[in-house]
Amino acid sequence: MEKLSELYRGKAKTVYSTENPDLLILEFRNDTSALDGQRIEQLERKGLVNNKFNYFIMNKLHEAGIPTQVEALLSDTAILVKKLDMIPVECVIRNRAAGSLVRRLGVEEGFIFNQPTFELFLKNDELHDPMVNDSLCYAFNWATEAQLSQMKTLSFKINTILSDLFDKAGLILVDFKLEFGLFKGEITLGDEFSPDNCRLWEKETLKKMDKDRFRQNLGGVIEAYEEVAKRIGVTL
Ligand code: TMP
Repeated sequence: MEKLSELYRGKAKTVYSTENPDLLILEFRNDTSALDGQRIEQLERKGLVNNKFNYFIMNKLHEAGIPTQVEALLSDTAILVKKLDMIPVECVIRNRAAGSLVRRLGVEEGFIFNQPTFELFLKNDELHDPMVNDSLCYAFNWATEAQLSQMKTLSFKINTILSDLFDKAGLILVDFKLEFGLFKGEITLGDEFSPDNCRLWEKETLKKMDKDRFRQNLGGVIEAYEEVAKRIGVTL
């Protein structure tokens, strides 16, 4: 399948049309952004690592019965995906306190919740992805009650599958962000799952192995991504 024309250039991926109107090509670039795109740097190999990482995770989720948009690995940095009508809210699951939740609620980083949390954020860089809720989703027609309920159920199921996968690799899945869309009316997991949009800590040392290394200028960003990939069995 060949790229036809560029449809959209996001912060880390470019989306291309193909000759099949139901299929798109996602190209993972080396661009790494923080502060809602105000800081962008090129990290060598990131496109390759995230593409292969995402393909591996999406396959695991597919095998566990989660509908995903992924169709095929096309190259080191590209995959073929179903074209989704994206729902403009991001679903965030947390198992421990970190990031914006620590700033918002003043709890200590690493605090372990009684049960995983589910939050919704509007996809809007200019507004810095404000937190929203189910009632706003219905009022603005971002998602119906049935769609949101399914997104929530799938998000918790994905948390169970991936927390177990990372646990077996000596890692804690602290939190992550998912995006869903509709394919022929069915809620389907889109976007990507990589160390760019989750937090992973080493179980023994609590060392950060995700994009927080970039956000917090800790260094060794791609080295950490590659280490996680190696531990869970991704072939790079
Ligand atoms: P937060 O602590 O900044 O709210 O982020 C929670 C998790 O979701 C973290 O793993 C990063 C991820 N995330 C994104 O990848 N993109 C986003 O736009 C947001 C809001 C969160």
